[in-house]
Amino acid sequence: MINHENGVFLLHNEHISLMLRVNAYGLLEQLHFGGPVTMADAAAMTVCRTLGWGSSVLLDDKDAGSCADEMSLAWSGSGRGDYRESPLELAGKSTDFRFKNYRIIDGIVPMEGGLPQAKGDARTLEIVMEQTDLRLRLYFTLFDTAITRRCVLENIGEGAVTVQKFMSSLMDLPGNYEMTTFDGGWIAEMRKHTVPVLDSRVVNESVTGASSNRHNPGFLLSEVGATEDSGRVYGFNLVYSGNHYAGVQRSLQGLSRVVQGISPSNFAKKLQPGQCFETPEAVMSWSDEGFGGLSRKMHDFVNRHIVPEYWQYKLRPVLYNDWEGCMFDFNQRILLGLAKKARDLGCELFVLDDGWFGKRNDDRAGLGDYTVNKKKLPSGLKGLSDRIHAMGMEFGLWFEPEAVNVDSDLYRAHPDWALTDAFEPLLGRHQLLLDLTKPEVRDYIVENVSGILDSAGISYVKWDMNRHSIALGEKAHDYILGLYDVLRRIFEPRPQVLLESCSSGGNRFDLGMLCFGPQVWCSDDTDPIERLTIQGGLSYLYPQSTFGAHVSAAPHAQTLRNTPLTTRGNVSFFGCLGYELDLNHLLPVEETEIKAQTEFYKKYRKVFQFGTFRRTENGWQVSDGDTTLAGVFYVCRPAAPGYDYLRVKGLQKEKVYQFRTRPQFHRIGQFGSLVKHVAPVALNPNGFILRTADKHITLPDGEHSGTASGSALTAGIPMLPAYRGTGYDKQQRTQLDFGSTLYVIE
Ligand code: DGJ
Repeated sequence: MINHENGVFLLHNEHISLMLRVNAYGLLEQLHFGGPVTMADAAAMTVCRTLGWGSSVLLDDKDAGSCADEMSLAWSGSGRGDYRESPLELAGKSTDFRFKNYRIIDGIVPMEGGLPQAKGDARTLEIVMEQTDLRLRLYFTLFDTAITRRCVLENIGEGAVTVQKFMSSLMDLPGNYEMTTFDGGWIAEMRKHTVPVLDSRVVNESVTGASSNRHNPGFLLSEVGATEDSGRVYGFNLVYSGNHYAGVQRSLQGLSRVVQGISPSNFAKKLQPGQCFETPEAVMSWSDEGFGGLSRKMHDFVNRHIVPEYWQYKLRPVLYNDWEGCMFDFNQRILLGLAKKARDLGCELFVLDDGWFGKRNDDRAGLGDYTVNKKKLPSGLKGLSDRIHAMGMEFGLWFEPEAVNVDSDLYRAHPDWALTDAFEPLLGRHQLLLDLTKPEVRDYIVENVSGILDSAGISYVKWDMNRHSIALGEKAHDYILGLYDVLRRIFEPRPQVLLESCSSGGNRFDLGMLCFGPQVWCSDDTDPIERLTIQGGLSYLYPQSTFGAHVSAAPHAQTLRNTPLTTRGNVSFFGCLGYELDLNHLLPVEETEIKAQTEFYKKYRKVFQFGTFRRTENGWQVSDGDTTLAGVFYVCRPAAPGYDYLRVKGLQKEKVYQFRTRPQFHRIGQFGSLVKHVAPVALNPNGFILRTADKHITLPDGEHSGTASGSALTAGIPMLPAYRGTGYDKQQRTQLDFGSTLYVIE
């Protein structure tokens, strides 16, 4: 609902509310953002400003309370007495917008340019503010568990103005906060960092041309003392894939100003009379049930209002991707062999990654030339795809349409299509970006990719992009608008194609890309222990249905860590499961395990992909209300482990549940020289007999099952004793470093 009374606006539902007030000076104050309040609370929630503050600049000299600097605002000017961070900066000009009028609209107000936005059941408040030569439209859209904000600036004057900074949102929040950001780099995405919000500004910004693996646009503000399950936590995000900015700073009055939008770095957009500029949509939500509560609200919002309608709550296939297994080294025979194995192991979609076109035999050549390499694939894509379909699998394909190698026919024909500046071209992964601000480049990509999609029965696309940009400021923004245009033209007419975006892994894990495709390849780092950090970090703001999560080889390519296959599966289950390793090298025991994994995942796929996600003290859990799946992950095991408890969240206290562990097995070889103590004959751990046995024989891990009330499971039930050097026992968790246990609670 959105109500208006005496200059007060209230956007509210059972989860969330935002209260705004137009004050006597026509400035827009924010009286409240958080849990539900009512219109009758407006007076009580208004700050009494009768006393002045020294050195203030006043809007009215006769009113000591007219200092904009001390107001709790939802928008502000620059150079007009509010010295906190300004949301809008024009070259050489102050801004001073005052309230003009408003509209309440049923639904969303569509973007005027090409930016993506949240959709679905919603109501919107449009507030129009003006100063002599400019009109500002502020949009507040109320969804069920989040509110979005964006702005449009219109030049209604007679001269041009240059916009140097234009935020999507500004709010002042009372209270003491800590800011949590998710930072990192390639194969190191989403590392969680928390800093106090004090009087110096804390900034979360990306300037690489992408939302970036360095600083995800999503961040949190938590009241000091908030925990996973209690306390007030605010979540913020941006429906945008380019350079972003968020600044948070506490004022003397104890208001924390939060602004978010496009990065102002090098930004200078000229607006001629009559022209408009619109910002991306900022998203904000709130919970008083701690970080967990906030995550659940954000997950709901993304699943219902961000991902393309066709894919909302639609089950995702278990896929096999040939990249980590083959890299560039494959041919049709090899691929069909892998596809057959993948199908037999339970995969439903076969994805051919990089290397299928042009002279793409390594990453130095061929990018841009999407003509199939007939030496590798003599029957073409269609021939390959038909054979894969005949095996009962779907077929998916990798593209990197935004980039070009200098050694490519495309670059030789159109060197002017590359994105350049005044200097020597700078290569990244031996490639340049195409200039997506040029219509002819966009047309080429759209025709090229669409033609291939329609020619070969392709039902999944991995859309990759593997370098940072050199574009600055508004050029970088125009590039992203170009990208959205291309994605819209290719994928809107083909909604059934499952688009998984990727940018060297998680370099563009953002709500903008998720508006076009429901999944993102979250990292090139598939090491499951690293994924605990990466998927764990993502889980604060993005639902598990949006992560591509693959089981890969051990020792792992990036860490050389030798993680048990069970854990590789157990971690990937909490996302959209895939396999990405050379299946020809699997041992019989590994094939058996993978078959068991895909069977188990498919049985509970809906819960894993769309169930309510919770972070627990020793792992993650998902639940649909009837079934809860709880993963417990161990990183470094001590020699004398104490008791470990399974504590399950979100259960009904008085209900009785059955719990059991997913059966899992240990390779005999992992016991090394210990085997000789239990075997009837002395065996050499490196000898032929044990090496052969290791391929075929496993020992079961202790199976733990029983019944318990919701109360007991909430309080915590002791798990089986953990291995402690007293030998193998069927009634123990024989957990090594990097082991895990998965419980099913029904
Ligand atoms: C980077 C991606 O993240 C990988 O998964 C793979 O697709 C390679 N690019 C292919 O070049």
